[in-house]
Amino acid sequence: MKFRLALSALVFALAGPVHADDWTGDADLGATVFNTQCQTCHYVQTEDGTLLAGRVSPIGPNLFGSAGGVAGSSDFARYSTPIQAANTAGLVWDEANLVAFLDSPTGFLTEATGAAGRSGMPMGARTEADALNVAAYLASLTGE
Ligand code: HEC
Repeated sequence: MKFRLALSALVFALAGPVHADDWTGDADLGATVFNTQCQTCHYVQTEDGTLLAGRVSPIGPNLFGSAGGVAGSSDFARYSTPIQAANTAGLVWDEANLVAFLDSPTGFLTEATGAAGRSGMPMGARTEADALNVAAYLASLTGE
């Protein structure tokens, strides 16, 4: 728990609109975070195939629409049991949930869903600021 978040105090946000101004990080700084800490495993590609970030890879899910969207809803064959449980519960990647996941992927999913098993994502972001900024960056990639 390197960000010192109180996981037990997390609010479980169910599906509801998440707006652009719900992201408090700096999307420009977040682009650098994505390029250095995330794109080995992730990319962002619209439904019509436009690549907005990274290189298409089978290691991690396409993150298009993930910020503000329901967890585990990309077309990705290897989602872990706990993220599938989050999907079933309708867990939304709002800023608080995404930052907590980027602090400790397995820790967050275990706490939020109670499901056993490890997340397929081995590590999160290096700092809370990185997490906030990359969340804002992902939210900015709407393809519009
Ligand atoms: C070593 C590979 C790897 C790295 C590096 C990595 N991820 Fe992931 N990520 C994954 C995998 C695999 C999953 C699927 C998790 C699961 O199944 O539990 C995932 C899941 C996610 C999800 C949830 C996607 C969904 O469909 O709900 C988000 C958001 C995410 N990662 C963001 C990031 C960000 C931001 C970074 C950089 C700070 C990052 N990841 C770094 C492999 C990685």
